[in-house]
Amino acid sequence: MATQVVGSSTEQTGEAGAAIYSPFVLSVYDLWVLKISNSFAWRCPTKSIQLPFFKQFIGKRHLDIGPGSGYYLEHGNIPEETAVTLLDLNTNSLNVAKQRLGRPSTVTIEADVTQTLPLEGVYDSISLFFLLHCLPGLLEEKMKLFTSLKPHLAQKGVVYGSTILGKGIQHNWFGTRLMNFYNNKGVFGNRDDGEEEFRQALCNEYENVETRIVGCVLLFSASRPKDDSENSD
Ligand SMILES: C[S@@+](CC[C@H](N)C(=O)[O-])C[C@H]1O[C@@H](n2cnc3c(N)ncnc32)[C@H](O)[C@@H]1O
Repeated sequence: MATQVVGSSTEQTGEAGAAIYSPFVLSVYDLWVLKISNSFAWRCPTKSIQLPFFKQFIGKRHLDIGPGSGYYLEHGNIPEETAVTLLDLNTNSLNVAKQRLGRPSTVTIEADVTQTLPLEGVYDSISLFFLLHCLPGLLEEKMKLFTSLKPHLAQKGVVYGSTILGKGIQHNWFGTRLMNFYNNKGVFGNRDDGEEEFRQALCNEYENVETRIVGCVLLFSASRPKDDSENSD
């Protein structure tokens, strides 16, 4: 299936948060991010916390936004009958992740989540792991993504994921250095991301919202999108 590509915009884009994922970076991503950083900087281990959470909600039509190296797709025990779509701004991530999943039927969509989403389908599960802390701007801007995803979530579907917080948690020595480095480079944009604001923004759009913090990482899930007319005032 061919990759769909979306046009550009003059507004602030999410390019900086995606540009770093070269083939080399993706080849060391699992070791550096998923093994070392998740355990020792963010204190939210991949194998015992994040991977089981990824597996928890996989439905028959799954959309993974920001697949990175494709680790979760390879190890997520995704049933053969599940139709998988990947959306990412970086073609390297799309290619590597699709290859690791090993299913030629996987649909890939090249798009920037800070812009209008070119989605047409409806999904039973939508995962966004370690995507939101890569996006620039205020949390309220980032959270518009969850509004855009509402029409693409099945009635009983779940949108869920993880993100590194910048506020309201205590980063250790290693985490503080990584936070400063990545935020200064524009790879992260999460200095002001806190659980409360995040939770509130999700509650504005979805009936069922669950959040929990492990280390410096927020794990969230939301379902039952609210009718937009409820939010109109
Ligand atoms: C930190 S990696 C996360 C990889 C994987 N989900 C994980 O949890 O390890 C972030 C991914 O999001 C993508 N990404 C970053 N900013 C984006 C944007 N504005 N629009 C779409 N994808 C973006 C990157 O290209 C990369 O694949």
